[in-house]
Amino acid sequence: MTASILTETVAPGVTQITMNRLERKNALDRACYQGLVYALAAAEADDEVRAIVITGAGGCFTSGNDIRDFAAAGVGAGPRVATDFLTAISTAPKPLVAAVEGFAVGIGTTMLLHCDFAFAGKGASFRMPFAALGLCPEGASSYLLPLVGGTKRAAELLMLAEAFGPETALDVGLLSGVTEEGGALAHALAKARALAAMPPQSIRLTKSLLKQAHKAGIAEAIATESRHFGERLTSAEAQAAFAAFLRR
Ligand code: COA
Repeated sequence: MTASILTETVAPGVTQITMNRLERKNALDRACYQGLVYALAAAEADDEVRAIVITGAGGCFTSGNDIRDFAAAGVGAGPRVATDFLTAISTAPKPLVAAVEGFAVGIGTTMLLHCDFAFAGKGASFRMPFAALGLCPEGASSYLLPLVGGTKRAAELLMLAEAFGPETALDVGLLSGVTEEGGALAHALAKARALAAMPPQSIRLTKSLLKQAHKAGIAEAIATESRHFGERLTSAEAQAAFAAFLRR
């Protein structure tokens, strides 16, 4: 467990996982992904845990993958640890509730597609800048976003890669609800407490049945996107975009 990922029991049966790398707007580096995978596995293994809340520290969800790690990716670097996290979050048997304030960029947006509930404060800002960075969609977003938001909205958000607000995020199926600014965590915790009070086996079965229809499609999309994503990381387009961000 790293200090950049914090876990705590915040209510009976409720574990909160907090992305905590304030100096980089909670950008996720390799250690963060490893911490997230570990935290999810630990919560899944603990019979006392019935619901998991994911949030970011300091009024920011996450600015997405650390661009320095992207820039340092070598040719043939192999599977990214981000893919391990995406696999873990997309197959997690226990209910996941996200609380978003501030920025939710890249994987900060796409991970919401795998949470069972997601709440964002009014001031939250979302963006999937993959195409603008010379990359391609990840986190099964090329599969799930057209499914939940429609093909035209998915094209707009993934191809034009512009930032959008919580109302649009709600509209395209990334969120369960929008709260007052600063209110997302309290709302998420209330839902998590309610979930923790439900019969746990029935909740897990319900979640598993809800996920069943798209289970194979999601796994395949994550694998296909990850392969392309890994190749794109070392492309001239992507490396130029990373360098431009890092010399701002
Ligand atoms: N990777 C690495 N460093 C990042 C980062 C990221 N994803 N996001 C932010 N940072 C760093 C900035 O470089 C800056 O570092 P500095 O203080 O040494 O200059 C610090 O975090 C604060 O970020 P800053 O850009 O000054 O904050 P902001 O409030 O003006 O903007 C964002 C916030 C999230 C909009 C902006 O930082 C951004 O666009 N980040 C990149 C997001 C991204 O493309 N992620 C990859 C997704 S695939």
